[in-house]
Amino acid sequence: MEVLAVEMRHITKIFGGVKANDSIDFKLKSGSIHGLLGENGAGKTTLMNILYGLYRQEEGDILIRGQKQDISSPIKAISLGIGMVHQHFMLARSLTVVENVMLGRKSRRGILLDAEETAKELLALAEKYRMKVDPYAKVWQLSVGEQQRVEILTAIYQGADILIMDEPTAVLTPQETEVLFETLRHMKEDGKSIILITHKLEEIISIVDEVTVLRDGKLIGSMSAGEKMTKEELTRMMVGREVLFDFKDPEREPGAVRLSIDGICADNDKKIPALTDFSLDIREGEIVGLAGVDGNGQRELCEVITGLRKATKGRLVMDGQEIVNRAPVYYIQKGISHIPEDRLTTGLALKWSLKKNLVLKSFGRTPVSSHGFVSQRKINELWDKAKDEYQIKAISGEDQARSLSGGNQQKVILARELEGEPRMVVANQPTRGLDIGASEYVRQKLLDARNAGCAVLLVSADLEEILQLSDRIAVIYDGKLMGILPRGAAIHEIGSLMMGNRREVQENE
Ligand SMILES: Nc1ncnc2c1ncn2[C@@H]1O[C@H](COP(=O)(O)OP(=O)(O)OP(=O)(O)O)[C@@H](O)[C@H]1O
Ligand SMILES: [Mg+2]
Repeated sequence: MEVLAVEMRHITKIFGGVKANDSIDFKLKSGSIHGLLGENGAGKTTLMNILYGLYRQEEGDILIRGQKQDISSPIKAISLGIGMVHQHFMLARSLTVVENVMLGRKSRRGILLDAEETAKELLALAEKYRMKVDPYAKVWQLSVGEQQRVEILTAIYQGADILIMDEPTAVLTPQETEVLFETLRHMKEDGKSIILITHKLEEIISIVDEVTVLRDGKLIGSMSAGEKMTKEELTRMMVGREVLFDFKDPEREPGAVRLSIDGICADNDKKIPALTDFSLDIREGEIVGLAGVDGNGQRELCEVITGLRKATKGRLVMDGQEIVNRAPVYYIQKGISHIPEDRLTTGLALKWSLKKNLVLKSFGRTPVSSHGFVSQRKINELWDKAKDEYQIKAISGEDQARSLSGGNQQKVILARELEGEPRMVVANQPTRGLDIGASEYVRQKLLDARNAGCAVLLVSADLEEILQLSDRIAVIYDGKLMGILPRGAAIHEIGSLMMGNRREVQENE
């Protein structure tokens, strides 16, 4: 008889009246890769948090390798060989990589010796799975992509043979995703069992043996890999209707230069130069896509443009006026919106209500405030509109932001940053973690902003997204501009610049 690594039976989990999981059955075969699909808020993370001992189900049983288990905590889960890489990173930000890996593990010898040994083992694992990490870097200094590698390595290091990965590829480039998938395939050959949550259907189709689809907390069904597993079919199961992948994107002549980035230099958090003499003009009515492997200065650039980081050299000129190195609020007043890469630390105040988060930047300004009074009615109106337009799944605008699913949190930030006719949008990975429908909606919103004359800087690890939306494509590598390509450039050409091959300036172009 076939051994199941995991069997979840009739799992029900309720949050304040909402059935996040409604009697869900889930079976993971040993030595297989299983995709878990569903729209934002469908209940994927909740189900996996139950399996990992973070939440306790109201009803239902869990069997691990055929044995019924009471998974009361992550420590219990780890002891059963279950590892989890979370949607939002769980690393202790003030500790080093090695210290994080060692957390929750009993020291056999002196802590110092142990750290050295752990670092060595970690490097060996990193080498084996081709995931570059610096064991002694502090986690807060790492890019999102690097933090994720640490999470994956930690789980492998702790001996997981059932590995849950909650949207691991959302922060990876296509190349990095390929490398990760190679790793997953090796792990599968080793007999490990993997659960993969992702919104990217191509990825599901390319790697999984089986897929399970959830919708609104309910099980829709499971399917084995094969001819029937198509993008259309999976979408239909997830959404319950057809989704159109269609854009209205009129050609548009861009106008005057809105923001001129001129010879900007800036350091990263480690005080190492992250941007070197970076120059780029963004014009009104134009989307400039910035392509590059994660961690090559994109984040620092966005932060300089929004006042979150000081430039050590260079100028920023907006509508003819020098604006470099001012306080963040200055850029907000200038009409520069920022969709940050890391929504949990920069984008949202997690303990604040959703409504407060929505109008965070509008206090003291009309229409939210006038003559010193905050208009609750206006806030309510804005919330209702945002909730409706972005289909934010929340029970009430008074709920804390942290109670929302990952994708729904992102929608709140987008609603805040894209409303009110910004003059410039700095969008760093705007659709990361969004389901298909929501991604399409946000892309259309960015196009609408552009068509209304807004200047958009779009940073994305998703080359398809860059190609779909950009009027021009700039490529960054090691903090330097490698070149600018016209819309419709070939993927391999962008890829080559992303690897650091600078585009020769051709005289006769
Ligand atoms: N800690 C919590 N408190 C209250 N409600 C919660 C909590 N965690 C999840 N929920 C609710 O449960 C539902 C399912 O959320 P879950 O995070 O499992 O979705 P998901 O499928 O992982 O979505 P996404 O793709 O956006 O990550 C959502 O409606 C969410 O608001
Ligand atoms: Mg989730």
